[in-house]
Amino acid sequence: MGAHIPSTGKAQVRALLGLLNTAAEEAIAEYDKKGLDVPFIDNGYAHPMDGRLPSLNFKHAIRTLEGACGQICATLAQPSHTMVNYSMSAFVPASINAAIKAGIAERLSKHPNGLHVNDLAKETSIHPQKLGTLMRLLVTNHCFREVSSNVFANNRLSLTMLPNNANKVCDILELKSGEMHRKATMWLYEALTDPDFGPTYNATRSPLMYALGKEGYSGTLYEYLNTQPGVVESFANAMAGYRSATGHLNLLNVFPWGTLPPNTSVCDLGSGNGNISIEISKHFPQLKITLQDLPETIREAQKFWQTEYSEAVNEGRVTFTPLDFFKESPVPGQDIYYLSQIFHNWGDEHSLALLRNIRRVMIPGSRMLIDDYLAVHLDPASIEKQHASMSRAPRPLSPGFGHGQIRTYTQDFCMLIMCNARERSLEDFVELCAAADLKFVRVWDLAETCLTEFIAV
Ligand SMILES: C[S@@+](CC[C@H](N)C(=O)[O-])C[C@H]1O[C@@H](n2cnc3c(N)ncnc32)[C@H](O)[C@@H]1O
Repeated sequence: MGAHIPSTGKAQVRALLGLLNTAAEEAIAEYDKKGLDVPFIDNGYAHPMDGRLPSLNFKHAIRTLEGACGQICATLAQPSHTMVNYSMSAFVPASINAAIKAGIAERLSKHPNGLHVNDLAKETSIHPQKLGTLMRLLVTNHCFREVSSNVFANNRLSLTMLPNNANKVCDILELKSGEMHRKATMWLYEALTDPDFGPTYNATRSPLMYALGKEGYSGTLYEYLNTQPGVVESFANAMAGYRSATGHLNLLNVFPWGTLPPNTSVCDLGSGNGNISIEISKHFPQLKITLQDLPETIREAQKFWQTEYSEAVNEGRVTFTPLDFFKESPVPGQDIYYLSQIFHNWGDEHSLALLRNIRRVMIPGSRMLIDDYLAVHLDPASIEKQHASMSRAPRPLSPGFGHGQIRTYTQDFCMLIMCNARERSLEDFVELCAAADLKFVRVWDLAETCLTEFIAV
């Protein structure tokens, strides 16, 4: 920060073009490092990099690239042009969802050279012209390709819709583009301004619950999920898919797991199926891991580990202990309490209750790792003041990286509509944890989410 900011609009756009150019070259260099060419957008097969963990350098480059592209377009185009585009962007997830439900990518995978829309229509019972409409919307977003008039084929992006895709993203695509999220946005304004729902962060008063209330349902998101057949498993898979999209497993390289002594105990609290701790366990077998979540999820986690990594189960390197983390404390005396994407599901009251339950069983030397987005305020002064280990956007890029960091804010919005909760800033966490006698130690920036360490006071 503090760098020279060009004083004319034209100079700013040219400076952004410079950033864009450098960032694109940095991303290309990451392909070079692996001895790989950059893929063609319309390749009908996955590129070796598509299924790999993106390095932090790669993530940094893509963040600046996306930020600069979005800012250049929003600067040069007329505002009406950009805003009308935004207002219609919800059609894209609707098309993704329909394409997944109709199994388009799976059907096309049997036809590498493409399949005519009439044949796709017969297989899916969707009118051919209507199917063409949604396919072309996706093609303009670089998902699928139209190889000749009305003949469609897969490309690298559409391959992510395959249920067996290496990145396991199909479940998260379905979840984010699906009925539950659409319902949650349908009555957003009404829920925000409703005298019962609007003023509170109570978990039963989310916009989703406002919509479900019209169908006679009340409760929290997780109570709701646990009533839906098959959803607990697909939700856990969706979490794994989200991780692969965010390059979350960089935490394996950033946090010093390897220096922890044998039998260091790690409690993965609110573990889901343990899709993160399974990787921690594979890379650092000296750790003893306990997974804790609601009973139904822990049952799924046991099946998942038995299939994916039975050695750890058989060697007693992982144990599974169900709990309701609001009603009871986690296993006592652990060296590390690790919580990934937990606090953003809950308002301050629930989060504080959970923190106190953890604090109660911490011993001297225990630490708590919060793995969540840190949503900073986006004004230049707030960004200037943020913790020194967090990255700053090169000017004249918008202080928060604009589109390059959009997932922090789409997730913030998602937590609002689904859980009546939010992503927090570092200052929010420090304040909340202080109320539970926990002291901030440091933060590791994973170029999207952050790992934040606290110890008992
Ligand atoms: C967003 S998911 C995160 C899962 C996992 N940590 C990850 O990052 O993939 C939140 C998890 O919190 C669990 N959870 C929700 N309420 C809970 C409760 N009262 N007690 C224990 N776990 C709970 C859910 O079952 C779910 O697995």
